[in-house]
Amino acid sequence: MSVAKPLRIGIAGLGTVGGGVLKLLASHGELLTQRTGRTLQVTAVSARDASRDRGVDLSSVRWYQDAAALAVDPEIDVFVELIGGSDGIAKRAVEAAIAAGKHVVTANKALLAHHGAALAGAAESAGLTLAFEAAVAGGIPAIKGLREGLAGNNIREVHGILNGTCNYILTEMRTTGRDFADVLADAQRLGYAEADPSFDIDGVDAAHKLAVLTAVAFGTQVDFKSVHVEGIRHISALDINYAQELGYRIRLLGIARRTEAGIEQRVHPCMVPTNSPIGATDGVFNAVVADGDFVDKVVLVGRGAGAGPTASAVVADLVDIARGRVTPTFGVPAEKLAPLVPSPISRRQGRYYVRLMVVDRPGVIADIAATLRDQHVSMEAFLQRGRSPGEAVPVVWTTHETDEAAMQSALAAIGALDAVLEPPRMIRIEDF
Ligand code: NDP
Ligand code: HSE
Repeated sequence: MSVAKPLRIGIAGLGTVGGGVLKLLASHGELLTQRTGRTLQVTAVSARDASRDRGVDLSSVRWYQDAAALAVDPEIDVFVELIGGSDGIAKRAVEAAIAAGKHVVTANKALLAHHGAALAGAAESAGLTLAFEAAVAGGIPAIKGLREGLAGNNIREVHGILNGTCNYILTEMRTTGRDFADVLADAQRLGYAEADPSFDIDGVDAAHKLAVLTAVAFGTQVDFKSVHVEGIRHISALDINYAQELGYRIRLLGIARRTEAGIEQRVHPCMVPTNSPIGATDGVFNAVVADGDFVDKVVLVGRGAGAGPTASAVVADLVDIARGRVTPTFGVPAEKLAPLVPSPISRRQGRYYVRLMVVDRPGVIADIAATLRDQHVSMEAFLQRGRSPGEAVPVVWTTHETDEAAMQSALAAIGALDAVLEPPRMIRIEDF
């Protein structure tokens, strides 16, 4: 009986994700061999600190100080990049691996958002796989779901919670009343956050993922620079409580939508109905909703960050490679990916939540209402609780459907009123 050759794996980066992959491969070796007919064998690794215990026995595995040297090791078939960063060693090592004829698996959404099209082109012209299931939404098979499961559809929209750290922070702030910095430290300790957590809380990580998801959904080139990005730094406990009172949850969402003008890509905090699938997705969980013309809406929910879920996604890619399964990187051959025509956020039509801190004195609300009238923005609901004559009080309202450009003009005018003490806080409402 002929026995298939082992799949020889080199892993660069043995932190949260790399450590998780080592443990999964060590624990599920037999299962994976049963599923692929091959042994998935780690033959070489690289990280910064050779002396650190990675939780598995690496004594028979070659060690490389230089990840780019590991990438071209003649004794590996697949290079797994789990270091991170859009440039530097991660990019150099992935390019070297492709040039040396190795398949590549990566969890690095920053790298793909900035260089995805070029790397896909290089891999595909060499007949190699560049796989990245772990780069978007952690353990959720979002890439395979869209690229393979929904391949028969024209995708109209894809949206979702794409950052586990932010969803964890927003959930903990709401359910425990803990403050932002405290919960962020927790997310870092749990291995959810990026090396630079400002990528999480400023929306950049979600934007990297959205840019990749957009390419898969719409068959366009990855176009990170056209993503509108806002983060969650300005979300306060006050807004979280008002959202609850109005029947909403606050989520950092990534939304990619085909419009008449082109493709809209935006990442920003949203209010979503509490009882919607996105509204019900708490903690480190992510949710990805795809809307296809034949299938209608498909919702995928699962853990978006952490060692186990991300390792699960990395190993799924290794299983595909072991089986010899070949798929164009973004679902369409790289040279056929269409340039993305961006549709700017100023064209958004939708509802809005606004909170102001104003001086409690007669006439203030009339001035605000007049500004909204001048911009043709129609108010839906209005809340002002309590009285503190002469002091600062919060004033909250939601609007009917209006356009972003009118809303921005109204907010600029309202922010300039004497009685308005802080910049207006606006959160877009998405009813989906
Ligand atoms: P960590 O910071 O936990 O691990 C990074 C690893 O890279 C460490 O083992 C580090 O070595 C190693 N490393 C750093 N610089 C070099 C270098 N120059 N040469 C070789 N190795 C190096 O990061 P994560 O595991 O969290 O993230 C890895 C990737 O996975 C990133 O792209 C991230 O965006 C992505 N990702 C992370 C998820 C998560 O939940 N954490 C989820 C999905 C994707 P040493 O250990 O010796 O310091
Ligand atoms: N920092 C990322 C997050 C890791 O919190 O979602 C998963 O990509």
